[in-house]
Amino acid sequence: MAPINLLALSGSLRSTSYNTAAIEALKALAPPHITIQIGSINELPLFNPDLDELAIPALVNLRDAIKRSDGLIIASPEYAHGVSGPMKNALDWLVSSFEFPYKPIMLINTSPRASHAQASLVEILTTMSGVIVDQAYTSIPLLGSDLDANGILEDGELVRALKDGLDAFYLAITSIERTD
Ligand SMILES: Cc1cc2nc3c(=O)[nH]c(=O)nc-3n(C[C@H](O)[C@H](O)[C@H](O)COP(=O)(O)O)c2cc1C
Repeated sequence: MAPINLLALSGSLRSTSYNTAAIEALKALAPPHITIQIGSINELPLFNPDLDELAIPALVNLRDAIKRSDGLIIASPEYAHGVSGPMKNALDWLVSSFEFPYKPIMLINTSPRASHAQASLVEILTTMSGVIVDQAYTSIPLLGSDLDANGILEDGELVRALKDGLDAFYLAITSIERTD
């Protein structure tokens, strides 16, 4: 099977974040032909277009990781019906980047009730010319579960949902690449 590299980003800075746990679990259960790198958006400064031309190390690393990836996985929480600040900040830094447009994107939602932020995320990512792979959308009810990545990996239904999403994402990426 053709190998692919994916970059996963969590929009939460919380040490016991469900969103981070979900992408850690996904990384652990990915088959050998799918490599998942977990990227960091925590070190990015607050977005300021005046600084866009500067070689900010965290931004250079993020853009480079996106460039090397075949697709992005984004798991981000809802705060006050909006996209989390860290994720919106990271996306603002990427608006003017040439690495981001046309990247396939898998969205993971760890709280099915958080529909406002998901809808907003879809709008933002589409505006940025990201390619959201609808078939890969994965909604798993982690809110209030107290599960970390290991706990997720012990739950058959959660594992199945994550695997199904990843399989659909792989299929979409490899078929996009076949038609190029
Ligand atoms: C200040 C604050 C505001 C929140 N607002 C919402 C909200 O509007 N809708 C919602 O579904 N959850 C809301 N939540 C719940 C978070 O989305 C939830 O705790 C989520 O698990 C955080 O993501 P994490 O576990 O990855 O850190 C809010 C939480 C906090 C702390």
